Amino acid sequence: MTWLITGGAGYIGAHVVRAMTGAGERTVVYDDLSTGVPDRVPDGVPLVVGSTLDGGRVARALRDHEITGVVHLAAKKQVAESVSLPLHYYRENVEGLRVLLDAVTSADVRSFVFSSSAAVYGMPYTAGPVTEETPCLPLSPYGETKLAGEWLVRAAGAATGLSTACLRYFNVAGAARPDLADRGVSHLIPMIFERLADGLPPRVFGDDHPTPDGTCVRDYIHVVDLAEAHVAAAHALASAPGRNLTVNIGRGEGVSVREMIDRVNTLTGHDRPPVITPRRPGDPAHVVASAERAAAELNWKAHLGLDDMITSAWSGRQRTHP
Ligand code: WQD
Repeated sequence: MTWLITGGAGYIGAHVVRAMTGAGERTVVYDDLSTGVPDRVPDGVPLVVGSTLDGGRVARALRDHEITGVVHLAAKKQVAESVSLPLHYYRENVEGLRVLLDAVTSADVRSFVFSSSAAVYGMPYTAGPVTEETPCLPLSPYGETKLAGEWLVRAAGAATGLSTACLRYFNVAGAARPDLADRGVSHLIPMIFERLADGLPPRVFGDDHPTPDGTCVRDYIHVVDLAEAHVAAAHALASAPGRNLTVNIGRGEGVSVREMIDRVNTLTGHDRPPVITPRRPGDPAHVVASAERAAAELNWKAHLGLDDMITSAWSGRQRTHP
């Protein structure tokens, strides 16, 4: 099969492209380079520069490259930004997906893998693992656009026979190589790095949450494991036309903010205890995946642990901040 990877020049996209090509799939990257970086695209993989809002350009890419599968990663993903620019997020993440699906369902594409998010759950009522049946009550426009995206994908699948998989990413971290590391500083691990590099104490956004140590608990997944989950999803869809899957992609293990800060201090050779700051609005106390469906339906589970996420991300930061 030949796969169009939208957003394939991004942090997660670059890992997905490498995993798919490593599994013997032909890939083509489609990216508007608004945040993607061309030199993340491996030699030999064609890059089409464009937005998924440009239906004509998407249709030409699908036809010219004889695309039979699509992995859709291109999206805006800053939660705080989505609160101040909701219409921009709905246009990019929902209308962009609708235009893409219009082209996909008019072409010879048989499989569609969609990058969704644990953000669709909002503040899950359960203190235990979050299953795919947990009610989805997103707390941000970003999370809303991901849930609306799932509705579009599942509806298109049901109406046309397109095989679909919505993958709900939990908290992604780490890198396969330093040059492929996440260059953003909008998530916990890079934000800890930034504070330590500036000689400042890492910040804990609230230590009065209903969790064992009072700090928020999340399910961190290595980007290499996440990329392999896309290969597993591609294979699962190729073997079952008309299938519609919705799957959590997480390790099924919770790590608290305080535990993460302690581990980052240790692994990066620092010793800087955190400072407690007020809670961040909308932060759920505990969001940890049930990884059972991924194991059962995709025959996939994570292999890489927290230390590799931290050390590989740290190597990436040292490369861009020598
Ligand atoms: C993690 C925890 C913060 C920084 C993200 C994104 C989205 C989605 C799910 C894919 C929170 C706390 C953070 C700091 C802190 N994934 N924190 N001090 O909010 O769980 O959600 O993952 O789509 O990408 O929404 O991730 O890394 O922002 O925060 O205490 O300096 O760390 O309060 O509890 P989050 P995050």
